[in-house]
Amino acid sequence: MGSTEVTLCGVRLDNPVIPASGTFGFGYEFAELYDINCLGSISFKGTTIEPRFGNPTPRIAECEAGMLNSVGLQNPGAEKVLTEELPRLKKVFKKPLMANVSGFSVKDYTAAVEILDREDAIGWFEINISCPNVHGGGLAFGTSCENAAAVTAAVKKVTKKPVLIKLSPNVTDITEIAKACEAAGADGLSLINTLLGMRIDLKTKKPVLANKAGGFSGPAIKPVAVRMVYQVYEAVKIPIVGMGGISTAEDVIEMMLAGASAVEVGAANLAEPFACKNIIEDLPRVMQKYGIDNLKDITGGAHNG
Ligand code: SIN
Repeated sequence: MGSTEVTLCGVRLDNPVIPASGTFGFGYEFAELYDINCLGSISFKGTTIEPRFGNPTPRIAECEAGMLNSVGLQNPGAEKVLTEELPRLKKVFKKPLMANVSGFSVKDYTAAVEILDREDAIGWFEINISCPNVHGGGLAFGTSCENAAAVTAAVKKVTKKPVLIKLSPNVTDITEIAKACEAAGADGLSLINTLLGMRIDLKTKKPVLANKAGGFSGPAIKPVAVRMVYQVYEAVKIPIVGMGGISTAEDVIEMMLAGASAVEVGAANLAEPFACKNIIEDLPRVMQKYGIDNLKDITGGAHNG
C-alpha cells in the first residue's frame, strides 16, 4: 500500500486531509460519530480575541453545487477556546492542531495568537485574512498587500509556531497577496476561502441572507481553487494548503498536483459528517488507480514538464 504521509511546514501528518475551519466545530462533536484520529489534523473554529455571537439569521443559503454562509465568526473568544474547547478536543484527538485566528485589527490577531500559543497541541496557526462576512476585519486585510504583510509580520513576532495565512479569492491577483505574505515571513499559505455571493428569495424579493451577501463554497468553486493554488505555487516557495470544493479522494490528488502539500475539506462536512473519513479511507484505492506510491511526491506534479 502507498504512503499517504505528508509534511506541512516541518510537521508530519499521517495524511493530507484536514477539516476546514468553521465546518467541523472544535472537533470533539465528530468524535461521537467516529475516531477522528484518522484525520491529518483539524483546523478548528475561527477564533477571535473577544467572544462573538455572529451575524443575524438566516446565515445559510443552499445553492446549486454549493452553499452560501454568513456566519460572522461566531466563537467563544480565545481565552475560552484555550481553557474549555481545546481541553475537550485534546481528550479525543492526539495530533497537532491548526488554530484558525481572525481579527478586526492587527492587535486583535496578535492578542488571540498570544493566548492560543500557550497550547502545546497547536502545530500551526492559520491566520484568516479572508472572512467575507464581517465589516472592518477579515477581508479588509486579505485584499491589500500592505495589510496582509502587516498582519503576517506582527503574528510572526508573537509565536515560534509555523504561521499560515488564509487567502481570499475575492481579489484581482491572488499571487500578489501571496508574495506579500511570503515576504513578510509567512511559513505557508492556505487557499481559497469562500467566494462572495448572494441569493435572492423570489417570494420576498429580498436577499436570502440577513447579511445580504455571504461566502460561496462547495463543489462549484473547485476549478477556481485549483487554478489559484496552481498560480500561487508558481509565485511562492512556501507550502500551500489547498481548499475549495474538495469532497473526494480524486479532488485531494487534483489539488496536490496543482501545488498543495495538504488539503482542507469544508462544505462537504456539512452535507456528510463522514466526508473526511470517507476521503481518507478511499485515498489508497485512488492512489493505486493513478500509480501513486507516495502522496507527498505529487505536490506540484502538474507543473513538471
Ligand atoms: C464566518 O464565520 O463567517 C466564516 C469564516 C470565513 O469565511 O472566513
